[in-house]
Amino acid sequence: MSDPFRQPIDASTRYCAVFGHPIKHSASPAMQNAGMAALGLNWRYLACEVAPDNLRQAIDGAKRMGFVGLNLTVPHKLLAVEMVDALDDSAKTWGAVNTIRFEPDRDGVVRSHGFNTDAEAITRSLNDDLGVELRGANVLLLGAGGAGRVAALKLADAAVGELHLVNRTEAKAAALAEEIRTRRPGVQVSVGYPRTAVDLVLNATSLGLRVEDALPFAAEKFFLRQTRAAYDMVYRPAETPFLQAASAAGCRTANGLGMLLYQGAKALEIWSGQPAPVEIMRRALMENVYGH
Ligand code: ATR
Repeated sequence: MSDPFRQPIDASTRYCAVFGHPIKHSASPAMQNAGMAALGLNWRYLACEVAPDNLRQAIDGAKRMGFVGLNLTVPHKLLAVEMVDALDDSAKTWGAVNTIRFEPDRDGVVRSHGFNTDAEAITRSLNDDLGVELRGANVLLLGAGGAGRVAALKLADAAVGELHLVNRTEAKAAALAEEIRTRRPGVQVSVGYPRTAVDLVLNATSLGLRVEDALPFAAEKFFLRQTRAAYDMVYRPAETPFLQAASAAGCRTANGLGMLLYQGAKALEIWSGQPAPVEIMRRALMENVYGH
């Protein structure tokens, strides 16, 4: 994509960055710079390769250099919880920080404030991109790893009616089910495939990232005709075999690009205090990820 900024970098330009390890394939610079340019900000968004051992110094360096804020991606989100001066409720709830805002106080002392915008992005994408009404919904969730756990807890917070959890390592699904029973007793949670129809199947496993991957569910235990909508957290490729099969079965489908978009849009709102230009950011993201 061409440079979205009309104004060149000058001595007043301020910076945000994403720190990750690895970081080379991050689509966040394209998305965030398009958003910052559209808001008319003299800001730029960088991507920096930061090893976990250097994270604390890198955050401190950005703070001392007057950065507006940071995003953190794999493997830094949990580590950063201990490295910021204050935690927003979102970061406390999820035990992970993906966004930092640097805030000068009245005496000019800068403090780092950690947020989590990932969890909210899951439900926003399911609502906005797939049109699923989560309250009372019957959901099959595939995967109980890091992403699956946050998705399950967030779905429970959104007051889904029934949650069916399936994971290759069943013990992890069982432990997650127990956590939800404690946290949200109103949600009916069970481990295993549903026998009846569901409103949504959500893939939170990593299956689909590679061409040789199997489908994320057991085709003899669950039929895609049992669901009205299918969501794949995988967004590269744009249409995984799971989403292709779901489309062929007549389901509405969406991929996880929306999650990336909404976590970024929320981060830009936290930094700028303005509504993010979501559609401009979506277009920049799609151009970066899919080339169109
Ligand atoms: P993430 O943070 O992306 O969720 P993760 O915590 O490593 O990464 O979780 C990966 C998820 O994909 C898990 O649900 C994992 O199942 P296990 O808990 O049994 O490991 C699932 N997964 C990965 N490879 C898989 C495979 N070949 N078959 C089935 N599930 C797989």
